[in-house]
Amino acid sequence: MDPKPLVVANWKACKTIPEALEWLENFQSKAKTKEADLRKVEVVVCPPFTALEPMRLKIKNQQLKIGLGAQDVSPFPDGPYTGEVTARMLADLVDYVLIGHSERKKDFGENVKTSGQKMNLAQKVGITPILCVANFDEIPKEPGNHFHLLYEPAAAISQKGVYRPENPENAQKNLAEWKSNFKNVNKFLYGGSVNPTNVAQFLAQPAIDGVVVGNASLDPNVFWELINHVLP
Ligand code: PGA
Repeated sequence: MDPKPLVVANWKACKTIPEALEWLENFQSKAKTKEADLRKVEVVVCPPFTALEPMRLKIKNQQLKIGLGAQDVSPFPDGPYTGEVTARMLADLVDYVLIGHSERKKDFGENVKTSGQKMNLAQKVGITPILCVANFDEIPKEPGNHFHLLYEPAAAISQKGVYRPENPENAQKNLAEWKSNFKNVNKFLYGGSVNPTNVAQFLAQPAIDGVVVGNASLDPNVFWELINHVLP
């Protein structure tokens, strides 16, 4: 396994295409000053679907050290599913996809079954799923190989910019237990109110290999500050 800490920015339903490109520009101008250190961290941004291709092109043209992920994928293959974006469509755009985020479970009726379908389709086309769960029951029976597992209790997710993180020792305890049960997981991540003031505490826990960052990833200045607490 790649020992670099993984930092995933989840923008949720925020940012138009120009806003996404401006974020990239801003982040990159800061990142240029610490290129060598940044090789020791893996940074992945999950923008809305609409910004994926413009961001991919900019990242490619400017050879930026930023990976891309989708925030969701259809539980169905290509076919008569109006409005869906399938794994095959995403395969050229992203390396990662968030699956089963608690907001999708709360607002869009998703469950462990849909997570399983999505994981299967994503893995078939070579996209690494980041499976989002708050407890063991949300992990599909046959999750496949090579995925990252995100422990994210819904109550720890920031609300209207107010942070309410899980205690890092609690997150460590849960993830350490899961680690001993799941040998086919690449990385174990924590998410929920991660911000510049607490990211180092979470990553200092031996069972936590990375973090998913929502609110604190939207402003490139705040996100850069957070990354600086992750750099060696
Ligand atoms: P938050 O969101 O960092 O704003 O709490 C994280 C997430 O929901 O993935």
